[in-house]
Amino acid sequence: MWREAAGRKDVVLLDGFHALKHALRFGADVRAVVADDPDAVRALAAELAPDVEAEVARLVGRAVVRSLLPRVHPTGVAALAVRPDAAEGRARLERMPRTAPVVVLDNPRNLGNVGAVVRLAAGFGATGVVTRGDLDPWHPNVVRAGAGLHYATTVAGVDIDTLPPGPVYALDPEGEDIRALTLPDDALLAFGSERHGISPELRARADHLVSLPMRPQVSSYNLATSVAMTLFHWGGPHPDPAATV
Ligand SMILES: C[S@@+](CC[C@H](N)C(=O)[O-])C[C@H]1O[C@@H](n2cnc3c(N)ncnc32)[C@H](O)[C@@H]1O
Repeated sequence: MWREAAGRKDVVLLDGFHALKHALRFGADVRAVVADDPDAVRALAAELAPDVEAEVARLVGRAVVRSLLPRVHPTGVAALAVRPDAAEGRARLERMPRTAPVVVLDNPRNLGNVGAVVRLAAGFGATGVVTRGDLDPWHPNVVRAGAGLHYATTVAGVDIDTLPPGPVYALDPEGEDIRALTLPDDALLAFGSERHGISPELRARADHLVSLPMRPQVSSYNLATSVAMTLFHWGGPHPDPAATV
């Protein structure tokens, strides 16, 4: 089953139990799950993720994982899931009205940063993460850093001409202090590359340039931490009214 799934062009590797758990929880089409010790994985599911325990138990098969992969995750499990269609993802991001912002990464370079941003977007309930440039936001190292949470939001590559609709708030240390602003739910929150910051093309599209508070002489924050602060300022998921009753 693994070799058959691995032969498909549209599958991604879910490396480790947490990535598998999140992917199943958020509706991924998981095609193969392997472990040296399937019973240990079933026990992990019973302990950490009873909501997907039955699915894990049904899917997991025995295999010598290191014969399939160069590196085995400490939880000893790996899975393959279908990567959603990019055009469908972009179409979803076109839809308005929007109840939560889209994060735009302008030519990011660091795969770990992009994964951390996907994880943040999933946690805050952002509508999605779009990237400009040549980095694949579904690269296996991005999916690993995102802990399988690509399936909990929408992740796609875009061009400057196919940015989703909405007012562009570009984050830049030279901008207006974020504390003076309310970020609307339909915002595109745009962040520059680690090396060069916001590109001239995206700057030209920006409706607002926004800065995060920072001491003089500090040049900038890390990309993913900037996204975290900005999403926190936006407000995050609306509290579930049922939970307060
Ligand atoms: C590592 S920084 C880029 C640094 C880059 N050398 C530059 O000249 O802008 C990556 C991105 O994080 C965001 N960022 C970092 N610090 C920020 C700050 N103090 N205010 C607003 N955005 C910030 C910006 O979007 C920036 O383009």
